[in-house]
Amino acid sequence: MTTSMRKTALAMVAKGKGILAADESTGTIEKRFKAINLACTEPNRRAYRDMLFAAKGIENNVSGVILYDETIRQKSLSDVPFPQFLAAKGILPGIKVDTGAKDLALCPGEKVTEGLDGLAKRCAEYVKLGAKFAKWRAVITIGLGTPSTTCIAANAHALARYAAICQEAGLVPIVEPEVLMDGDHTIERCEEVTEWALNALYEALYINRITLEESVLKPSMVISGKDCAKQAGVDEVAERTVRILKRCVPAAVAGIAFLSGGQSDEVATAHLNAMNKMFAGELPWNLTFSYGRALQHPSITAWKGATGNVASGQAALLHRASMNGLATRGQYKRELEKQAA
Ligand code: 13P
Repeated sequence: MTTSMRKTALAMVAKGKGILAADESTGTIEKRFKAINLACTEPNRRAYRDMLFAAKGIENNVSGVILYDETIRQKSLSDVPFPQFLAAKGILPGIKVDTGAKDLALCPGEKVTEGLDGLAKRCAEYVKLGAKFAKWRAVITIGLGTPSTTCIAANAHALARYAAICQEAGLVPIVEPEVLMDGDHTIERCEEVTEWALNALYEALYINRITLEESVLKPSMVISGKDCAKQAGVDEVAERTVRILKRCVPAAVAGIAFLSGGQSDEVATAHLNAMNKMFAGELPWNLTFSYGRALQHPSITAWKGATGNVASGQAALLHRASMNGLATRGQYKRELEKQAA
């Protein structure tokens, strides 16, 4: 039986399309605005999201948009609530429901994501506002002696509790266990930790009765730590990432949409492309993007908060979305970037 959550989950990862993560909390968007010298006011946050969502044709490569609590209640500049504005373009509105990563007690340097208290009630409200899916991000830090078993288990448990609450409310859960790229660890260490985190996650999802067919995984890629002297190439990242996904992610999962996690825009696209090219026809799930920074960075830089720059901000977003759309089919080429520049 194809349920409506199953249909939503499959639509989120449809070939040629991916998800725009525009769910930055007020604190995070303030950092992004600082870089373009823009005050972090409610009207400016609304104008920025409007610039992104109103881009003509964005629906060709964007299946869904993750919103923040403030954004899901705001209206477009044309006076339509954002969820309905997106739905009218055929884009699924989603909502970030976690309340952030907080220090994990007795585990110095590690975090656990909070937001389970009152979540069922919040999900019911988000459904009324038009949300079709939700997101919860766990962060796992690689360091000396970390991650701990405590951190892996606490985050897997929270992700699974969240996913259960979402499914009961009718929202497709995106489960996001992000292994951070910060640090000088090797790609081998990243691979080991990613495998551990995913195995713990799928065990917790099973214990918590999640219907995997109605869920989407948002993993980090297996890459070298940002400060590691030896940086793995594109093909190695693709091979190691897919190897771990094959080992840990049940075929029943509706699809996989990667985060960009601080990778540069073009590298994030190249990695996704390599996976889809090298493993075409071999995988039980579609592999796509659910990028925040790697989609928005060139756009916000072109926009700079000025009404006169809306068209160039939108052009930059459309370009990245279409490059990543090609990458979901393994059809992206670096030369296409130069033509657009
Ligand atoms: P980045 O692609 O910038 O990592 O953001 C994706 C996201 O939604 C993180 O939760």
